[in-house]
Amino acid sequence: MTLTTPTTPTSLSSSTTPVPPQVRTICCLGAGYVGGPTMAVIADRCPQIQVTVVDLNAERIAAWNDADLSRLPVYEPGLDAVVARNRGRNLHFSTEVDAAIAKADMVFISVNTPTKTRGIGAGQASDLRWVEACARQVAQAARGHTIVVEKSTLPVRTAEAIQTILAASQNQLPQRPTGNGEAPRTFSVLSNPEFLAEGTAIADLEAPDRVLIGGDDPAAIEALAGIYGQWVAPEQILRTNLWSSELSKLTANAFLAQRISSINSIAALCEATGADVREVARAIGADSRIGAKFLGAGPGFGGSCFQKDILNLVYLCRHFGLAEVADYWESVVTLNSWQQQRIARLVVQKLFGTVSGKRIAVLGFAFKANTNDTRESPAIRICRDLLEEGAQLAIHDPKVSEAQIATDLGQKEQQNQHWQLVASPAEAVNGADAVLVLTEWQAYAALDWPALAGSMRQPAWLFDARGICDAAAARAAGLQVWRLGAAYGNASSGE
Ligand code: UDX
Ligand code: UDX
Repeated sequence: MTLTTPTTPTSLSSSTTPVPPQVRTICCLGAGYVGGPTMAVIADRCPQIQVTVVDLNAERIAAWNDADLSRLPVYEPGLDAVVARNRGRNLHFSTEVDAAIAKADMVFISVNTPTKTRGIGAGQASDLRWVEACARQVAQAARGHTIVVEKSTLPVRTAEAIQTILAASQNQLPQRPTGNGEAPRTFSVLSNPEFLAEGTAIADLEAPDRVLIGGDDPAAIEALAGIYGQWVAPEQILRTNLWSSELSKLTANAFLAQRISSINSIAALCEATGADVREVARAIGADSRIGAKFLGAGPGFGGSCFQKDILNLVYLCRHFGLAEVADYWESVVTLNSWQQQRIARLVVQKLFGTVSGKRIAVLGFAFKANTNDTRESPAIRICRDLLEEGAQLAIHDPKVSEAQIATDLGQKEQQNQHWQLVASPAEAVNGADAVLVLTEWQAYAALDWPALAGSMRQPAWLFDARGICDAAAARAAGLQVWRLGAAYGNASSGE
């Protein structure tokens, strides 16, 4: 990441008129968890706009075009219906990247930006090579005036890099010979971070708390605001400068993640003292200044964004010499890692100090319920630690594939002797010494403990890291129960 001293952003647009250009065609680069659902909803709400989502991954595009909607590459409740309504009409999925860019009035960049694994900033800074490649491709293939919208979550001041690449192309190849009176190539860059959460993407897109548009070209800003204005109230569309928009996204994710680390730290204290974290969360959440959301203690936050964005923030702070600020935010990630480690350690300790050869039913592998996404899922670290201790894992998840788990656990399916993906919670639990609940799938809240307990090897344990199981029923069925954030043996009034 190249960082420079902040300067006043300059417009790349040759236009000075605030009249927004009409957007008839949109191209989105990246058909992932963000690009796919976002474009599906834009197409749904703006039937007058042709939306094409492109991706370098041909298999992914084929899955988006699959006639069987249960095979879309992203699982999101309600997504299949939105795709079914619009696909082939004004929503298209394609690998023809250049052609889609050339036709587009507006190009969204929605490719992944993982944490760098090598080089300067490794382990913290985002790897922007895909974003840069996209900017270069847009610079090459665009025609006329193109509004480029930064949708991926990016370190602050990335728009500047995109602008620089586009400006270079604008200056070097301004008048591509077309012979048909085509307008000169000009660009405007906007930041429009996405705040959707996986599992509720369609609902979040259809009724967002706010839409954030950062930029310095009023006409481009209004063009994008006009699209969202088809279904979002005007007062919910916020306009800022580019850098505020970029920083707001990192800050929002850092604040959300910080709440989770805060409540998880208190959960550990509850276990030590006999308080109950659910009661504490209810009590503090009733304070309107604190609010009740995002106070669910659990095995730690996962997902593609939280850790990456905080590490970006940390890198940024260090770059600007703000060591104390960097340390402050880094501690949110440190606590999250500790939480995952402590759960694995606790399971081993409760099972008489060894899990070697013991069958443990792991319920849930996705990083949260209602998604097939496992990126940064706490289950990965916890399962790896238990495998390291010699456990035999019987894993159940309603949406995650065996191939994905094999990748995450770093083992080949066919060679694996130590874990298996099973078809039902009952099958996972059969013969197990312990059940470990890691994802809050609704089905796990309604498990039939009297029936399950009978199939387990006694003495058997339930470790509920999400606090969703009926602990009283499990205890009545003869299981020993550990629930995150509650002292063992200290049955809380909530149960
Ligand atoms: C989102 C955000 O946009 C990103 O900033 C954040 O880091 C992770 O979450 P997401 O949609 O979840 O990204 O990523 P992913 O599901 O991996 O999709 C990205 C897609 O872009 C992939 O399908 C990949 O094949 C595609 N891609 C990547 C390209 O088409 N071209 C590239 O050059 C790079
Ligand atoms: C997050 C942000 O919410 C979203 O605005 C942003 O665009 C992308 O990052 P996402 O990662 O999809 O969305 O899911 P989120 O619901 O935020 O959950 C993140 C993680 O926090 C999950 O692992 C979840 O289980 C955990 N979590 C969430 C808790 O442990 N407790 C809570 O109370 C809430």
